[in-house]
Amino acid sequence: MKKGIFIVIEGIDGSGITTQSKLLADWFSKKGFRVFLTSEPSEGGIGKLLRTYLKNNSINPAIDALLFAADRVEHTETIKKKLEEGYVVISSRYFESSIAYQSSQGIPIDWIEKINKYAIPPDITIILDAPPEVTIERVEKRNSISHKDKEKFERIDFLHKVRTVFLSRASKFSNYHTVNATRDINTVHKEIVRIIDEYVKKIFKG
Ligand code: TMP
Repeated sequence: MKKGIFIVIEGIDGSGITTQSKLLADWFSKKGFRVFLTSEPSEGGIGKLLRTYLKNNSINPAIDALLFAADRVEHTETIKKKLEEGYVVISSRYFESSIAYQSSQGIPIDWIEKINKYAIPPDITIILDAPPEVTIERVEKRNSISHKDKEKFERIDFLHKVRTVFLSRASKFSNYHTVNATRDINTVHKEIVRIIDEYVKKIFKG
């Protein structure tokens, strides 16, 4: 049975997901919570395979969808275990990334939902929102510092589609929160903390 809290941070490439996940994890640790910080694609075998596929533009999008879903089955086992042990689990990306990215590649959402049957619902999903024109600059800077090749989704036109899906999903669910990620790191962090703190206080009171 789940005892912990499951938080997912989502957004387009360069929206600051990794940075904000780490800051949030530190915030929880300082408050005395046990935190498990994780991400997708995962560190497991399928996650590693996905990293190589992300460099390849000729992969059929259905294969991407299936591999992300398979990686998630493995990842979800770890997440469930941590939640049962009472951890706050913070994941950089989860199920919503498949909905946003793979549907933007033309895969129907109902099929993405079916193959992700074993994903578990997060308690809170934070969507970091910024225009691709802003985020792609960050991605290019990061890639040049780490001498990393461009991945296939790191394109402005494609990220516009992905952003639209994220925003439309965020408008449908009450536990999805959109945060303006064009601002500086600390301001974004403070807003995330405000949302999470409100949630934590509510569940510990109720
Ligand atoms: P990252 O840059 O956050 O490490 O993620 C790698 C890429 O994989 C990013 O462009 C988003 C994409 N992605 C999907 O297309 N579907 C998914 O389900 C996940 C988790 C990531």
